[in-house]
Amino acid sequence: MVRQRVDQRALKRLIDRESETFKKRTPGSVALLERARRVMPLGVPSSFQHMPPYPLYIGKASGPRIWDVDGNEYCDYHLGFGTLAIGHAHPLMVEALSDQLRKGTMYALPGEEPVILAEEICRRFGMDMVRFCNSGTEATMDAIRVARGVTGRDVIVKIEGSYHGHHDAVMVSVKPPADAIGPEDHPNSVIFSKGVPAVNAQLTLVVPFNQPDILERLLSEREGDIAAVILEPIMMNVGIVYPAPGYLAELRRITRQHDVALIFDEVKTGATIAAGGACEHYGVKPDLICLAKSIGGGIPIGAFAGSRAFMEKIRPEDVAHLGTFNGNPLAMRAGVVSLTQILIPEAYKRFAVLEEKLVSGCRDIIDRHELPMYSTGIGGKGCVMFAPEELHDYRDYLKIDFDLSYAHWLYYMNRDILMPIGADEQWTLSVQHTEKDIEEHLAVFEEFARDVMAA
Ligand SMILES: Cc1ncc(COP(=O)(O)O)c(C=O)c1O
Repeated sequence: MVRQRVDQRALKRLIDRESETFKKRTPGSVALLERARRVMPLGVPSSFQHMPPYPLYIGKASGPRIWDVDGNEYCDYHLGFGTLAIGHAHPLMVEALSDQLRKGTMYALPGEEPVILAEEICRRFGMDMVRFCNSGTEATMDAIRVARGVTGRDVIVKIEGSYHGHHDAVMVSVKPPADAIGPEDHPNSVIFSKGVPAVNAQLTLVVPFNQPDILERLLSEREGDIAAVILEPIMMNVGIVYPAPGYLAELRRITRQHDVALIFDEVKTGATIAAGGACEHYGVKPDLICLAKSIGGGIPIGAFAGSRAFMEKIRPEDVAHLGTFNGNPLAMRAGVVSLTQILIPEAYKRFAVLEEKLVSGCRDIIDRHELPMYSTGIGGKGCVMFAPEELHDYRDYLKIDFDLSYAHWLYYMNRDILMPIGADEQWTLSVQHTEKDIEEHLAVFEEFARDVMAA
């Protein structure tokens, strides 16, 4: 397929023009930012919400739509970084949570809901036991603790360029700069943030995605040192990068051979790409999985699950797993409603139809305009990748055209479509999106494609 180059000077002009439009549309966000900056670093509750030209402040959301504080209405494909495959304010969720509010929001003692939710997670993901927490960060932190506790080892291995939350053990080589990454077969462990102790670079080793031989060699070199390998089975913090055929099965074989725990971080893939996430899609069973985001339909939740051999070590004499809000009644009710009443088999059939329409529509536009991009998707997740060739790992991601990605995001924002910013994110579909929404989405992409190639 022919791919044209994008004129970078013209692209910058396009970005300037669209930034001006964005600013004219969103004075309310500017005013709130001014106030917010005085009392919150960068004016936002999480640094993920800090973005150029400035954060968008939100007033309300309903169905597939969200409104900013200026009243601009957007069709929402950001959906809370993929937490809302059920869409905003789903009627079943509103009804259940209203009922739960009247029954109390905090017991700090178990009830039936956590049992129902644990049973459903075990059924979907083929796991034996589950524990709950409050975020994806806690889920990966707890799963790593269990793996370390069971194996009696401290060192873990993660994939270069992957994000597993913001606790110290995984804040290594998240988005390492090109000049710090070292050789591909022995990547450096690069600390992501000030405040993360340097010792984590020794405790967390890094390998490239899709290269099982490099992992196998590392596990042999460090035989007896490594507790776990943690990875996103599909990398979803560098756009979407798939495992090569057989890669996950090979990781399963290698980790078993070296008696190392295999942890799938399904915070993004779980409940969005299939009912049983990547475990179901690829038919590979890790020792532990981490869940969060869409299993809770927009209420803070996390969970980790695994085989009995691992999970039963959570007991006073072995591994600690604690937390005042674990199994919070509101979160448990939200999880039960999401997984047993909304994200049911019909939902996944619907995602497949909408996804096919959106991805094939993007591909058609890309081909007609000879854009240096490609589009890909799975289940309810998809994206346009701003590179002409398919990516296989983080080092490929460094070649992405980030200006093009930013211009694309601005185009959508100014035409009433909210996408997550940045080449590392992807769209999320909800059960409340319609075919008409997809058609409007494609019309904006067509306009972007035409302007970018004409520029
Ligand atoms: C793959 C993955 N794991 C873990 C996390 C952390 O989840 P949370 O933000 O809920 O702590 C994220 C967040 O984006 C994620 O994408």
